[in-house]
Amino acid sequence: MEILLDTANISLIKRFIKAIDLAGITTNPTIVKKEGKIDFFNHMKEIRQIIGKDAKLHVQAVGQTKDDFVKDARAIWDNVDPDVYVKIPTTEEGLAAIKTLKAEDKHITATGVYTEFQAYMAMANGADYIAPYYNRMRNMNIDAVAFIKNVADRIALEHSSSKILAASFHNVEEVNNAIRYGAQAVTMGPDIMASGLGMPAIGKAVDDFQADWESIYGEGSSIAALAK
Ligand code: E4P
Repeated sequence: MEILLDTANISLIKRFIKAIDLAGITTNPTIVKKEGKIDFFNHMKEIRQIIGKDAKLHVQAVGQTKDDFVKDARAIWDNVDPDVYVKIPTTEEGLAAIKTLKAEDKHITATGVYTEFQAYMAMANGADYIAPYYNRMRNMNIDAVAFIKNVADRIALEHSSSKILAASFHNVEEVNNAIRYGAQAVTMGPDIMASGLGMPAIGKAVDDFQADWESIYGEGSSIAALAK
């Protein structure tokens, strides 16, 4: 299972990488926009520096045509690093770009996926990751769970090297379902990560244990203090 963070915010990446063994970071133009007019390549390089060379950095190509996507992909590999997973929309033009770039054995994430059909086309082209937009699918009355199950079954049946990188989550339950039904990877915004870890009941349990301990050994005491 791979857990990724869907953000380009440096301080949030630094915050959550301390707690979670992040498999990587995903970004798209909307996520970049939240950071303002950043020095794009240097910002992506800074993210790479924080997450390390073994984590996966997914950066999205912009445009409409095969040529747009291929040019952006090459610019990303030349100016960030050659290990970046370039996200390419799973349109007819995007699939043409994916086909060309996978023939060169580049790292590709097929993004903007709403349907099983798109997923199977991306899989046929050898995309490394296929990114279904879980919440957006639900908003359109598309069964996101059925998508994940069916595509995961097909990946297993074909011994495909493609992985589902489920994205576009709006709550923790959606993340849990994506993992439960077979997504090999999930990417969530820092807000979802914070809400999943910040449940009041979790904090209350920790507070109660500390209060009970201190009622025995005194305020501010700890097990480590007893060992001194
Ligand atoms: C992945 O990086 C996707 O681009 C992203 O999760 C989309 O999320 P949204 O539907 O919240 O915009």
